[in-house]
Amino acid sequence: MRASAKRAIFSAPMFAVVAHRDTETNLGLVAARPGGGAAARLTPAEALAVLNPGDIALGRLDVRSDVAGVEPGLWALGRLAASGVLVLNPPSTLLTAHDKLLTARELARDGVPHPRTRLLLPGDEAPWLDGPVVLKPRFGSWGRDVHLCRDQVELERALAAVSERRWFASQGALLQDLVPPLGYDLRVLVAGREVIGSIRRRAAAGEWRTNVALGGTREPTTPPPDACELALAAAAAAGGSLVGVDMLPVDGGWVVLELNGAVDFTPAYASGDVFNSAARALDRALAVALREPGPEVVAAEA
Ligand SMILES: Nc1ncnc2c1ncn2[C@@H]1O[C@H](COP(=O)(O)OP(=O)(O)O)[C@@H](O)[C@H]1O
Ligand SMILES: [Mg+2]
Repeated sequence: MRASAKRAIFSAPMFAVVAHRDTETNLGLVAARPGGGAAARLTPAEALAVLNPGDIALGRLDVRSDVAGVEPGLWALGRLAASGVLVLNPPSTLLTAHDKLLTARELARDGVPHPRTRLLLPGDEAPWLDGPVVLKPRFGSWGRDVHLCRDQVELERALAAVSERRWFASQGALLQDLVPPLGYDLRVLVAGREVIGSIRRRAAAGEWRTNVALGGTREPTTPPPDACELALAAAAAAGGSLVGVDMLPVDGGWVVLELNGAVDFTPAYASGDVFNSAARALDRALAVALREPGPEVVAAEA
């Protein structure tokens, strides 16, 4: 029997959150110990040095603070997978979630409702609008540089505002059809193949964007079944093991607005212990994956 297979059978695998910071979410996940063995938060380089075949790594690299791309370390997640570590939220998931253009493509492929999204490259002429749009970075977060453009004049103004941004020069901007804002959205937390928590985010007074970083507030909520179903489909479209799915209410349902591959969550997301729920849902998904090996598990045994 090969060493990796022995380790998987005779000792619990080590679990690592691969991330650059000790956030409340990262520490909560480590304390809940998915897999039941030792657990730690490791940087990508530390994970490469510490983890062995059969261990579990959860990729939680975020977008960069200048919203010009993903934090360094995707390469390390790829190398971990190649060396036999079971990588949850692998580079493909993080890229699909963090790059809103890829999100739009993957959700469209799986028939998940999402507003029409177009790429505008530097130097492109602003298109003639057939309705209000939102201009935003491809790798955005915290509501940063997200502009509402109700007409051509506002679009030109938004383009002028982002024209000096590094992210705009390297990636261009996205133009997304506006979903008429109702003052709140729903974030549903998916772990493994289960919904384990959710929150309603209410926009601050006078603000149309719901981000907590822009003064939005979190309210406890129980997600309706149709939202849970959509969240599971959106997470599956990205191959995500732990993602937050943001949804906006529309007449008769929801549209998925974005996927958060390094989602931050707090005890407010569930009435029980949300970190323990995440860990146990990951345990159940791992048990299923080991019974029905997919490409990642086959790699872990090679
Ligand atoms: N197409 C849209 N329609 C309606 N509201 C939007 C749209 N795009 C963004 N918003 C609002 O702006 C906020 C930030 O946009 P989002 O795409 O989630 O970027 P970020 O990654 O910065 O959070 C959202 O939470 C939502 O309230
Ligand atoms: Mg958002």
